[in-house]
Amino acid sequence: MGRDQVFVTRELPPKMLGKLAEHCDVEVWDEFLPPDYEIILDKIGGLAGLLCLLTDRIDAQLMDAAPDIKVISNLAVGYDNIDIPAATQRGIPIGNTPGVLNETTADFAFALLMATARRIPEARQYIHDGKWLTWHPTVLSGQDVFGATLGIIGCGRIGAAVMRRASGFGMRVLVNSLESADEIQQLGGEKVSLDELLSQSDFVSLHVPLTEETHHLIGERELKQMKPTAILINTARGSVLDPEALYTALRDGEILAAGLDVTEPEPIPLDDLLLSLENCLIVPHIASASVATRTKMAEMAVDNVIAGLRGQALPTCVNPEVYQRG
Ligand code: DGY
Repeated sequence: MGRDQVFVTRELPPKMLGKLAEHCDVEVWDEFLPPDYEIILDKIGGLAGLLCLLTDRIDAQLMDAAPDIKVISNLAVGYDNIDIPAATQRGIPIGNTPGVLNETTADFAFALLMATARRIPEARQYIHDGKWLTWHPTVLSGQDVFGATLGIIGCGRIGAAVMRRASGFGMRVLVNSLESADEIQQLGGEKVSLDELLSQSDFVSLHVPLTEETHHLIGERELKQMKPTAILINTARGSVLDPEALYTALRDGEILAAGLDVTEPEPIPLDDLLLSLENCLIVPHIASASVATRTKMAEMAVDNVIAGLRGQALPTCVNPEVYQRG
């Protein structure tokens, strides 16, 4: 019997690819841009394993073209790019990379919060534009972070890590999340309704996964409830936020600013109106991008593939129900 074939849809650290190659034949997509859907479709028929990224759409059609697939391993904690019910129905285990990116992502949510509150990108541009002529009492004044109220929507692992940072800044933390009021209180927050959170918070930070329920969770109605001095931070998924409603709210001063690590769509087109706004800081989905964390994510993704090839339960499996089938 030949060795299992595995396709990896982007370059990984050589050490991880080496580890994977001890267990199977590995083909790596070594281009900078992701493979087209058709390329994966073309290859998947001969694969026992697929290690993919959040930029790869993995749907039922692909799964149906993969009679020998034993594992699909996503190099991300989020898995909205994969049709999970379809995978479960077909008995295909899906791996993800939870845990290792919590602190790194929370650091970055706070970095966006600080940068937008204190207008750091604008201040940098101010110097480059030759405008720094003197110290001025009002120029580039921003919002205080210390002592402000932070609203966290979605208090899973990353939301909780953001809360820990907020306590060092003496912030009051309001939470809208599925966790119980007791659990949230133990973490140092107060459970409130979404409406209360939006109307009382100086900063609102999004930490929910993208699902049918959270698609455009923050739209025109929600933005109108926020304070005109409030700042919105999104390190979750772009589609949790309605981008057109956000543009209007930022343009019309309904909220003060936004810091976005994620957009709808990704990458954001250069003619997107959000990019024309000084009060909208947008970066290219890099919240988990520390060298150490991205390396750990790659290692977890590889370990999931290896377990799947061996017929073992994936160390971090999104759909463990597949193991309960007869
Ligand atoms: C994830 O893992 O889902 C993140 O969005 C990657 O940064």
